[in-house]
Amino acid sequence: MPSKKSLRDVKVTGKRVLVRVDFNVPMDDQGNIEDDTRIRASLPTIEYLLDAKAKVILMSHLGRPKGRDPKYSLQPVAKRLSRLVGTEVRFAPDCVGEEVKNLALSLKEGEILLLENLRFHEGETKGDESFARDLASLGEVCVIDAFGTCHRKHASMYLVPQFLKPAVMGFLLEKEVTYFEKAMVNPQRPVVALLGGAKVSSKLGIIKNLLKRVDKIFIGGAMAFTFIRAMGYPVGDSPVEEDLMPTALDILEIAKKLEVKFYLPVDFVVGREVSDSTPTRVVPWQEIPEGWRGMDIGPVSVELLREILSDAQTIIWNGPMGVFELDRFKNGTFSVAKMIAESPALTIAGGGDTDHAIHRAGVYSAIDFVSTGGGAFLQLLEGNHLPCLEVLDEKEEA
Ligand code: 3PG
Repeated sequence: MPSKKSLRDVKVTGKRVLVRVDFNVPMDDQGNIEDDTRIRASLPTIEYLLDAKAKVILMSHLGRPKGRDPKYSLQPVAKRLSRLVGTEVRFAPDCVGEEVKNLALSLKEGEILLLENLRFHEGETKGDESFARDLASLGEVCVIDAFGTCHRKHASMYLVPQFLKPAVMGFLLEKEVTYFEKAMVNPQRPVVALLGGAKVSSKLGIIKNLLKRVDKIFIGGAMAFTFIRAMGYPVGDSPVEEDLMPTALDILEIAKKLEVKFYLPVDFVVGREVSDSTPTRVVPWQEIPEGWRGMDIGPVSVELLREILSDAQTIIWNGPMGVFELDRFKNGTFSVAKMIAESPALTIAGGGDTDHAIHRAGVYSAIDFVSTGGGAFLQLLEGNHLPCLEVLDEKEEA
């Protein structure tokens, strides 16, 4: 990854600093913020700018609205942010236009303005140039801190940093990239990857990329059943991607060639249906009975994982081990979260469900780094570049 300039490398005092944040937070039906992790994650950048007496203009998307829709307004975020930074956050009724321009120009040093949802304009997701130029005209410095959106070539993310210079990384983006490089580019070995989730098809690129970089890989979650079925064993009613069975066998071959230790669960908690009231049993991996489906890894698999992780220097985790949303099937995923939290290894985790599971297991602050990205984190795990990072200013050679 090229070395990019960060906020520390540019002068911001007295300047209008346009910051692209990712305030795409989960909201309930009443417009209450359910989890403000992403807002808190951008505080180091915002507080630095306030201390430096910059005029801070924040822009973000929220959800996937089709046009202007009050359900997706960022107004509740402005209120929450005001509380978190301890100063009033002004709120603009739109993100472009005369009124917004005047609000931006009237900002005083140390003041913050949050613009309304960028996606109320289709120019945002379409990557429209004139929309991007309107946004860019609001600031004098561009800061990109929305790691979670770095895989989207949207106007505010990909074009604004090309039209408004300097364009640099905020502290969250810098931290995400730094941790990722520590774990994937120059890691301390052994490196262990734990992958879970439902579909091999959605993780294929990630598995293939990780095989080139890690020493051990454990595949849990529903993905494991495609491998087990491909090896010729019954999986009962567990979900299987039939068309990916040959690919699963190829992956086992590649792992062998690359001398990567490849592990699957050795037992499962099975149930008759996806419900907390279903009867359950623990069975060995090759003995899932007809009419039952695997919904969590079993206790022996948890012990196996403990052993796999015992000498790890770096751990990368993405994807739950089972249907952790249900109490009966949360143990495998929560045990992984706890083991990682207790491990002295460098631990990074990411992906929407993983982040949710870590919060629910109550170990969020004990894990070295939990990425704020869903899709963006997966893109990095797959070995892809983030286009919005590439357009930022290069660090000058020392
Ligand atoms: C995310 O939550 O992954 C980012 O905010 C991007 O959102 P999107 O998937 O709607 O583009």
